Amino acid sequence: MSTKKILVLLGTLILAAAVLSACGGGPAGPAGPAGPVGPTGPAGPAGADGKSASAADLTCTECHNDTTLIAGKSGGWEISGHGSGTAYAEEYSNKSCAGCHSGNSFIEMVAAGQNFSQLEKGATDPMRQNCQTCHKIHTTYTSADWELRTAAPVKQVVSGLTFDGGQGNLCATCHQARRYMPNFVDKTDATKYAATIRFNPHLSVQSDVLMGSGGFGVEGKPGAHYSMVKDTCVACHMGGESASHTNEPQLATCVACHADAKDFNVNGAQAKIEERVAELKAALTAKGLLDKEGAPVPGSYDEKTALALWNYGVIEEDASGGLHNPNYVNALIDASLEALK
Ligand code: HEC
Ligand code: HEC
Ligand code: HEC
Ligand code: HEC
Ligand code: HEC
Ligand code: HEC
Repeated sequence: MSTKKILVLLGTLILAAAVLSACGGGPAGPAGPAGPVGPTGPAGPAGADGKSASAADLTCTECHNDTTLIAGKSGGWEISGHGSGTAYAEEYSNKSCAGCHSGNSFIEMVAAGQNFSQLEKGATDPMRQNCQTCHKIHTTYTSADWELRTAAPVKQVVSGLTFDGGQGNLCATCHQARRYMPNFVDKTDATKYAATIRFNPHLSVQSDVLMGSGGFGVEGKPGAHYSMVKDTCVACHMGGESASHTNEPQLATCVACHADAKDFNVNGAQAKIEERVAELKAALTAKGLLDKEGAPVPGSYDEKTALALWNYGVIEEDASGGLHNPNYVNALIDASLEALK
């Protein structure tokens, strides 16, 4: 190396040292931006073979693979009034009827926490009361969907009483009166009642009668069939070994309390009530209060006359031959026959 080159190199080193020492006193600059994402690594090795999905993994089969679960109940339901009657199409677009008659309106009504008098509209299409009406089918898609849409105690719309009959509360949501006799007070003379051909509580009065309500002129009280029968309607109409869906009362349920019962006419009591109802009907017909078809003759009647006609309507619409509450029905007949004297 020549002296000149050594001098140049030395000069450069001194300059560099001077620059470095000058910089050494200042603060470090800010961190630079993060560098770009590196390239994707190579594919990993293939995993072990998984199990292929089988029907057993789907909860659908909790219901749809069982040969009796749905088919077994459908058979009974199809011959019941719910499965075969035509009431579901009865004025379905009328909001006063749809809550009890149309399956879809019932579902909406219960979901909204309403009763039958609170619907804002009727059904657009008539829908039969089917499995979905009473069960929460296809909500979670598991067998938990057999849960009933409602089993909450029912505050009856007309009586204001609370029906609390276990699973029977589902039934009482629809099977309750639409009107009582005071709803017919004559607008021109408040001491009288203006009877129409529908001078009755409607065919849905069963839960009222069980509680000793719905009639007029009698201080009723709940019968044993309300207070002692667990799940009320459901025990008698669906009870026994399986939840039969025919709606037919089950003698097996009666036998638990009426050990000797061979049919519903326990102690001849149902036949006796029917005989007495026939006596009341004859008396009402003789007074021109019932027509040849057995329908009320419209008119404005004093309270005594009206109550006899009304109570007859309650017993007929309840349609159990007095069985829902034998003591109460007998008292209604007594009061009515007495009033007609
Ligand atoms: C809680 C029992 C239950 C479960 C779980 C269930 N279903 Fe259903 N499913 C029913 C019932 C009850 C019906 C109505 C049957 C009838 O009307 O005959 C029905 C009807 C059907 C129908 C006919 C159309 C209809 O809606 O009426 C189809 C399709 C269906 N289910 C598919 C499924 C699928 C898919 C699953 C699972 C993702 C499933 N279900 C889970 C009970 C169930
Ligand atoms: C959505 C309202 C509704 C519910 C809930 C309901 N019903 Fe009904 N029920 C009706 C209507 C409406 C009819 C008339 C059906 C027809 O004739 O088309 C009827 C008819 C009946 C009948 C007479 C016809 C027959 O099948 O013998 C019985 C008994 C009956 N229901 C029992 C019950 C019981 C028990 C329950 C509860 C498990 C119940 N219902 C729940 C509305 C309802
Ligand atoms: C509180 C619920 C409820 C309301 C509201 C109601 N119904 Fe009903 N209705 C019933 C029940 C329950 C039955 C069936 C009882 C039975 O079969 O023993 C029935 C039965 C009937 C039947 C006899 C059906 C048949 O095929 O034998 C007719 C008709 C009827 N209702 C018309 C109407 C009309 C019209 C309205 C509205 C203006 C209406 N109902 C409102 C509950 C109701
Ligand atoms: C009027 C209301 C009503 C209708 C309509 C109805 N069910 Fe039910 N179902 C009940 C009641 C009440 C029970 C007894 C309560 C219970 O066991 O959870 C029941 C019980 C059952 C059970 C036994 C559930 C369990 O948890 O073991 C099955 C299964 C069943 N119903 C299937 C059906 C099918 C399928 C349909 C349609 C074809 C149907 N139900 C229609 C009211 C109804
Ligand atoms: C103690 C048992 C028992 C209880 C509880 C009971 N029922 Fe009944 N129900 C009967 C018997 C028995 C009959 C009459 C059957 C006959 O004479 O053929 C009947 C008749 C009926 C009828 C008339 C059936 C027809 O073919 O017209 C309806 C509707 C009805 N019950 C609905 C209900 C409802 C809704 C409830 C609950 C609110 C209820 N029942 C509670 C035993 C019972
Ligand atoms: C949980 C017990 C219990 C069950 C279940 C029951 N009953 Fe009763 N039943 C009674 C009692 C208690 C009385 C008497 C008190 C009353 O009428 O309130 C009675 C009274 C009667 C009466 C009047 C008897 C008389 O001598 O005056 C008849 C009829 C009757 N039941 C029929 C039936 C039928 C039909 C069934 C089944 C569909 C049935 N019962 C289910 C407890 C029951």
